[in-house]
Amino acid sequence: MGIVDLEQAKRELEGGGIVGVPTETVYGLAALIDDSQALKKVFQAKERPFFDPLIVHLADVSQLSLVAEDPPLVAFLLAAEFWPGPLTLVLRKNKSVDPTITAGLDTVGVRVPAHPLALSLLRSLRSPFAAPSANQFKRTSPTTAQHVAAEFPEFDLPILDGGECAVGIESTVLDLSESGQMTVLRPGMVTLSMLDRFISKHGLSFDLSIGESSASPGSMTEHYMPSIPLIILMRPFSELSLSEQEQLSLRFGATASELILDTSPQIAARTLYGAMRVLSEGPAQWMFVHRPQSQTGEEWDAIWNRLGKASGGVVIS
Ligand code: TXA
Ligand code: MG
Repeated sequence: MGIVDLEQAKRELEGGGIVGVPTETVYGLAALIDDSQALKKVFQAKERPFFDPLIVHLADVSQLSLVAEDPPLVAFLLAAEFWPGPLTLVLRKNKSVDPTITAGLDTVGVRVPAHPLALSLLRSLRSPFAAPSANQFKRTSPTTAQHVAAEFPEFDLPILDGGECAVGIESTVLDLSESGQMTVLRPGMVTLSMLDRFISKHGLSFDLSIGESSASPGSMTEHYMPSIPLIILMRPFSELSLSEQEQLSLRFGATASELILDTSPQIAARTLYGAMRVLSEGPAQWMFVHRPQSQTGEEWDAIWNRLGKASGGVVIS
């Protein structure tokens, strides 16, 4: 199958298949939300555990009531400000939503992606699709159609090629299911201060906080991992002592490559996963990335959140 056009992607999805689709964040592995069998195929193809819920992708905000029960006003205000875009809202789900999507939770994650092909596809389909990132469980998300194909070598997966993803890391996940509260479950390029400004602009009284893991079943410590180990250095490699360097080569191997991030957080995010893949495919046995003092502050938070998980927590201070 390989690369397909919009018409073929629609036919595949409406015929019960799964399709790799571009979004502005990362590529998704899509199945229609009204097709239980196809949704199960998504979990099987990714080897993803059923406790990790999927994000529903909508053509526009008018489809919100297809999946959310009495969405609060703030959901519409957020949608007006940030959709289409990299913000997923977690809302109370309505009864018709397939429990496979929500992993049995009483909430559903939903967003409108800002990618012209994804939007054209969504507008043409009989129902929205659910899509996790199109990678094997715990692995690096794909940001090109070629990356998607490489994740599923044993399938002849149909893939809609939308070029390189503009954002490059996954959407911000914002839980709105408790009234008066906004909880960021996964940081992304829609940042806390953007949300803060949004709250002030509309004169809302919301308690905005960061809350991980328990509420978001997919936020385990090991995630986004390249196929060779990735180690975070808080000092440049050249400033490690010889014995520190030696210990690293004993533990991970004699050849390492440095993952170099662009100095702009937007470009660093866009190129992050592709660069991790390139190094994984090269001769090095492991890779390291240096976190300079200057890369603190929330623009970098989402990137270092992904790198922290990709390293499985291996940080040399
Ligand atoms: O940018 C993105 O969000 C990409 C593109 C394809 O849209 N999708 C994506 O999906 O990153 P995935 O499945 O890799 O990550 C979605 C995360 C899950 O790990 C899960 O923890 C969280 O969103 N999530 C989804 N539904 C949720 C819910 N009802 N409650 C809490 N967390 C939820
Ligand atoms: Mg994922």
